[in-house]
Amino acid sequence: MAAKHKQEWFDDDSFWRDLYLYMFSDQRFADAEAQVDEALRLLPLSGKSVLDLCCGPGRWAIPLARRGFKVTGVDRTKFLLDKARANAKKARVKIEWVQKDMRDFVRSDSFDIALSMFTSFGYFEDSDEDVLVLRNVFQSLKPGGVLTIDVVGKKWLARIFQPTSSAVLEDGAKLIERHEIIDQWTRIQNEWILIRKNKVKTFRFRHTIYSGRELKDRMTAVGFRDVKLYGSLAGEDYGPNAQRLVVVGTKPAAGRKKE
Ligand SMILES: C[S@@+](CC[C@H](N)C(=O)[O-])C[C@H]1O[C@@H](n2cnc3c(N)ncnc32)[C@H](O)[C@@H]1O
Repeated sequence: MAAKHKQEWFDDDSFWRDLYLYMFSDQRFADAEAQVDEALRLLPLSGKSVLDLCCGPGRWAIPLARRGFKVTGVDRTKFLLDKARANAKKARVKIEWVQKDMRDFVRSDSFDIALSMFTSFGYFEDSDEDVLVLRNVFQSLKPGGVLTIDVVGKKWLARIFQPTSSAVLEDGAKLIERHEIIDQWTRIQNEWILIRKNKVKTFRFRHTIYSGRELKDRMTAVGFRDVKLYGSLAGEDYGPNAQRLVVVGTKPAAGRKKE
């Protein structure tokens, strides 16, 4: 899929498969279940159709569908979409799953809400492609629709940055994380070393780190208005103590893109 894009780290399915237990633990599913109502309270909306961009195994899509939303989950990783399908079946909810790169998904004037949750934004080597994703989402929203992006902000990262950390996964595997800030504090380079059953696998990946202002400016540039920054999905103030950077922007009712 997405043959016209150059291969990047997120195209390696084994990254998502081998680290599944770490990224999508039962606790993380429970967290999303608890956060979904908070996240909805941040939105000035009435509509029910949701685009869950980079939906992964359905942590957000499924609780939303259970609350009566009509959800489309888009993700490039077949392994995660298969998990999402199985999870939705277990939860007895109907969701549309689309396997597509976020740079290629556009469905004009179709959604009341778009979500990009749990640091699913900023993945591209060429940060203009992040802006392309924003443009796609803008086009895919109905006039009056809202986009929420949830990432780790630059301020918090600067505060808690550790070059190395480690964790033990649910299945006993060990994960050593090494981090380096590169390109004048615009990107983070990660090396994750996974030791499972005495086998060692190394994953290297980089992504762009945004400040609130940088993300707000990019959203405004593609046409979003009334762009608000929060420090958590519960709507705490954004500032030096904010552990998340949550940005909510609205596609104006007129639906016109700023030139
Ligand atoms: C950190 S996970 C977050 C998943 C989900 N939003 C959640 O909250 O659990 C990032 C997701 O982005 C997806 N992804 C990565 N690169 C992508 C791309 N270029 N296009 C679409 N999905 C992508 C991955 O497959 C993965 O599901």
